[in-house]
Amino acid sequence: MKRKGYLDFFGKLAVIFIILASLTSMGQSNIKNPIYLNPDQPIEKRVKDLLTRMTLEEKIGQMCQFSVFTEKYGKLVKGGKVGSFLNVLGAENTNKIQRIALEQSRLKIPLIFGFDVIHGYRTIFPIPLAEAATWNPQLVEKAASISALEATSAGIDWTFAPMVDIARDPRWGRIAEGFGEDPYLASVFSAAKVRGFQGKELSNPFTLVACLKHFVAYGAAEGGRDYNTSEVSERTLRNVYLPPFKAGVEAGAGTLMSAFNEISGIPASGNRHTLTEILRDEWKFDGFVVSDWGSIAELIPHGFAEDSAHAAKEAVIAGVDMDMEGRIYISNLLQLVKDGKIPEEVIDKAVSRILRIKFRAGLFEHPYTKIDQSKSIMLCKEHLQTAREEVRESLVLLKNEGNLLPLRKDIKSLAVIGPLADNQADLLGTWAGRGVAEDVVPIIKGIRNKVSGATKVYYAKGCNIDDTSTNGFDEALNIARKAAMVLLVVGESADMSGEAHSRAFLDLPGVQKDLIQAIYTTGTPTIVLILTGRPLSISWVKKNIKAILLCWHPGVQGGNGIADVLFGDYNPSGRLPVSFPRTIGQIPIYYNHKNTGRPPKENIRWTSKYIDIPWTPLFPFGYGESYTSFEYSNLQIKPKETGSNKEIRVSVDVKNTGDRRGEEVVQLYIHDLFGSVTRPVKELKGFKKISLKPGEKKTVNFIITPEKLAFYDRNMNFVVEPGTFDVMVGKSSENIQLTGSFEIIGDQ
Ligand code: BGC
Repeated sequence: MKRKGYLDFFGKLAVIFIILASLTSMGQSNIKNPIYLNPDQPIEKRVKDLLTRMTLEEKIGQMCQFSVFTEKYGKLVKGGKVGSFLNVLGAENTNKIQRIALEQSRLKIPLIFGFDVIHGYRTIFPIPLAEAATWNPQLVEKAASISALEATSAGIDWTFAPMVDIARDPRWGRIAEGFGEDPYLASVFSAAKVRGFQGKELSNPFTLVACLKHFVAYGAAEGGRDYNTSEVSERTLRNVYLPPFKAGVEAGAGTLMSAFNEISGIPASGNRHTLTEILRDEWKFDGFVVSDWGSIAELIPHGFAEDSAHAAKEAVIAGVDMDMEGRIYISNLLQLVKDGKIPEEVIDKAVSRILRIKFRAGLFEHPYTKIDQSKSIMLCKEHLQTAREEVRESLVLLKNEGNLLPLRKDIKSLAVIGPLADNQADLLGTWAGRGVAEDVVPIIKGIRNKVSGATKVYYAKGCNIDDTSTNGFDEALNIARKAAMVLLVVGESADMSGEAHSRAFLDLPGVQKDLIQAIYTTGTPTIVLILTGRPLSISWVKKNIKAILLCWHPGVQGGNGIADVLFGDYNPSGRLPVSFPRTIGQIPIYYNHKNTGRPPKENIRWTSKYIDIPWTPLFPFGYGESYTSFEYSNLQIKPKETGSNKEIRVSVDVKNTGDRRGEEVVQLYIHDLFGSVTRPVKELKGFKKISLKPGEKKTVNFIITPEKLAFYDRNMNFVVEPGTFDVMVGKSSENIQLTGSFEIIGDQ
């Protein structure tokens, strides 16, 4: 018994020893091979594991982002006190900093490098508003994947794009960076850009993490003045401003950026309703939110936070995970948590989201970028070819009276005039990444490359973009008089649109309109080319000039793509993603407006219009001409009556009735005739860009899903309400070719 007791005692001791020993060795192997560094482990497990190893300081470090690396940040990186840098470019530079994080910091958490890759890194594509004018999401997706390839080869992991702010006010300079006025069109492009940047696998080293910005209603700035207050009802927020963000989230965007503006009293970067209740609770977004540059600090001048500690608290509780160059989190969060003013779980959640995206992006597996690979990638042939395709598809033929266009390549002589004709820098447009002016093909060069050896091309600048001198007019008039045709290239410089570049007037800047008027008096047939980052009010030009081609800011292949269209190698197919006002007095003007109780009627005074100008836009949403003509027939709507949870199929035949191949953008609009809340007079719900040979006819099919019919009703529920819906199919929001209707009769 005694002996057995002894054995029992030693036996138990041995078992305890073995367990303890194995626990310790397990612990050691966990330290050596922690779960978070094991790519075979599920991401959520890796996030959890890493989080348990982090000190509070290290967690807060992940939430801080700084612009441009200087030596003073080296110490912070070593201490694990930085999560991200923006504006560090070039693989040598990003690798150098990444090495500090990976070799000298305790937990070896890779940094994520961000940059504004908005419409290209080195190969600059047309500005996003022009990309929307292509109505070709596949092409824009391809361009975004090219941008991702170029940017990642230069060490960038994350782009602050796409900007998906709906903009109904062309005074707002940032209208150039988005996809225009329509929630549906912008949603389609939002998803396309996200797919393009992020690819099929975000962990692929050549994909960029996307960032939907600026969340939200930044484009509703009062008076079109950048950073200004937005006064937007919850319903308008949900029906108009939120859909492109939702589409981007559904396409898998890894991050969002919280905006500068306030939304009806609550600044967007301190707005728990939008950042948590809608984004996380309703949409189930599990990526992270970065503030806009210093927008947490700006809660103080907004009058929303008393001091920087208060700003930090409001932002982090609202759901802003990373502080972009604001220095608010780094200097306040630690104390706030220590004082019990912010629960550590709030920090844990924010850090988990950031880590999740770093894991998804594969940064732990490929933290470095191969040096030298970028040389063969930047501006390579394929990239330039796609840029050229995007340019020509983005051009909108606004007018072509008497078929002045296309031009013959053997035209006897051409006078190319205007401040943007032999210009490179301004063709890049706003936010042009690492674009270089010398990479740009100027318009005059594109023209010279196209015309026959016998064609005489004269050039005169005429005037500058934005000053009052008319000294160059005489030279311009001289060449205009002796040429068979004038090509007059006018518009805005690149820095007239974009951030903090709102305009109170939308006329052609400087004396450019005077130049056009002077040339007009020569009687030489004239084509006006307009380069711009926004809609301009060009009523005189529309009335008097026979042909107008809208070229936006077209990027590096501008000259080539424009020449393709001018000389008929490509038949223009761009359509406006935004209305052009006759004058600033009409702003905001957008096609999907409400009817009012007194819809405007010609010759009836007491209706909703102006006494001095028509109420309609100069050029409507969806508008654009072609060198050929298209005929619409045979509209089919099936079924004509159905339940609110069923789909409606719409089809239409479109025939090319001209003598050239061309692309038509077939547009489908609906009108919900009445509802528990008023509904827009028209809403785009589908579009297809089709290519037709002369005489060719194609059937175009659309599906109207219940989601497309739904809206936020009187009780703020997203529902389809029974009733009659008109269907309109046509060439633009104004040029409707065929109409029909269907009935929704409740759930079936
Ligand atoms: C802009 C953002 C941009 C950020 C970083 C801010 O001023 O509003 O759109 O992504 O700077 O460059």
